[in-house]
Amino acid sequence: MHEGDSCWAFGVSGSIAVVGATGLVGREALSILAERGVPAGCVHAIASERRAGEGVTYGGESLTIESLGEVSFEGVGVAIFCATCEVARAHAPRAIEAGAFVVDNSSAFRLKPGVPLVVPEINADALKARPRLAANPNCSTIILLASLEPLRRCFGIAGIDLATYQAISGAGLAALEELNAQTRSLAAGEPITPAYFGEPCAGNVFSHDSEVEILTGVNGEERKIIEETRKIWCDRSLRISPTCVRVPVERAHTQAITVELGRTAGEAEVRACLARAPGLCVVDDRRGNGFPTPAKATGRDEILVGRIRPDPGTPVDDSGRAKRWCLLVSADQLRKGAALNAIQIAEILMNPARERALCVGEAS
Ligand SMILES: NC(=O)c1ccc[n+]([C@@H]2O[C@H](COP(=O)([O-])OP(=O)(O)OC[C@H]3O[C@@H](n4cnc5c(N)ncnc54)[C@H](OP(=O)(O)O)[C@@H]3O)[C@@H](O)[C@H]2O)c1
Repeated sequence: MHEGDSCWAFGVSGSIAVVGATGLVGREALSILAERGVPAGCVHAIASERRAGEGVTYGGESLTIESLGEVSFEGVGVAIFCATCEVARAHAPRAIEAGAFVVDNSSAFRLKPGVPLVVPEINADALKARPRLAANPNCSTIILLASLEPLRRCFGIAGIDLATYQAISGAGLAALEELNAQTRSLAAGEPITPAYFGEPCAGNVFSHDSEVEILTGVNGEERKIIEETRKIWCDRSLRISPTCVRVPVERAHTQAITVELGRTAGEAEVRACLARAPGLCVVDDRRGNGFPTPAKATGRDEILVGRIRPDPGTPVDDSGRAKRWCLLVSADQLRKGAALNAIQIAEILMNPARERALCVGEAS
C-alpha cells in the first residue's frame, strides 16, 4: 500500500484489520467500511482458523477470511476487534506491538484504568493523546448515554431509571440463529428446546442472560451499564437503576428511560435539545402513534428518541417545567451500539480533526 492509495482517505496509515469478521459485529464493521468507500484491498477480514479461506461479503466484493495468528497485524494501521474477551486479551497486545491502533468491542479492557472508554459524541477528547488501545462501551451503555448526553449538557443529570428491551442478536450469531430456528418451530407448532439461552427466545421475554450477582441480584449487563456510565461521565456517584431484558426481536435495542435532570426544564426545551443533537432523530408523533421501534431503527446510524414527556408520577410546576422526564429510545445495537461507534473511534484516532464534527451542538 502506498501513500495516495485511496484507503488513506480514511486516514489510515497501513491497512484495517477486522478481527471477528464472520460474526455479527464484524460483518457490520465490514459493511460500514465498504459504505465509507474503503477499498477492499485495504481491509483484512480475520476470524478463527476454522473459517480461514472462506469468503465474506465486502460491498459488492468478497474478502478471503484470514486466520488469526502471529503475523495477522503486520502492516496494519487499525485493528477493530469484534470477537471475544479472550481473543482481545490474547491478541490486542500483539496488534499494538506490531504498531496498530486497537479498538476493542469486547468488555476485556473497558474498565481498565488508563484505557479510554469512548462514545465520540461524549468524550472524544479521551482520544486526544492518541492511545494505542481504546474500548467500545457495551451496546446498551452507548445507546443510553448518547441519547441522554444532550440533556446532560443542557440541564445536568441527577439519576436514571432504565428498562431495556434487548434484541437477540445482541448475544451474537449463534443466538440469532436460535431465535430464527425457534420462530420456525413455533410457526410449525413444534416444541422448542432452548440451547443458547436458558429460556425459549421465540415468543418469550426474559431477564437478560448475563450472570446474576448472588449478593445484589444485579445481572452482568446491568452492572456494565452502571460501571461504564460512571466511567464515561466521570461521575462515581451517579444514581442509575437498570433492569435488562431480552425480547424476541432480531435486531435493535429499545430502552424505556426515566431521567432526573439537574434542574427543571420545559417540554419545548427538552425537545429542542434532543432534536439538535447529532446522531439522534426525534420520532414522536402523538397523533399518528409514530414512536421509536426496533423495526424503524434497524440499519440506521441514528438513535431514535420519542415518547418525550414529563414523568406523570412526579410534579410539574405551574409553567409546565419538570425535573423527571420519560423517553423511549430504539437504536441498532450492531451499528451505533457496536461497529459504527468503534469505526468512529478509529476515524478519530486516525484523523483527530474529526472529533469536532461529532461534538454535541456542532454540525455533523
Ligand atoms: N452483538 C452485539 O450486538 C454486540 C454489541 C456490542 C458489543 N458486542 C461485542 O462484540 C464482540 C462480537 O460480538 P458478535 O455479536 O459479533 O459475536 P459473534 O456473532 O458470536 O461473532 C464472534 C466472532 O469472533 C470470532 N472468534 C471467536 N473465537 C475466535 C478465535 N479464537 N480466533 C479468531 N476469531 C474468533 C468468530 O469467528 P469464527 O466464525 O471463526 O468463530 C466471530 O467472527 C463480542 O465481544 C460482543 O460482546 C456485541
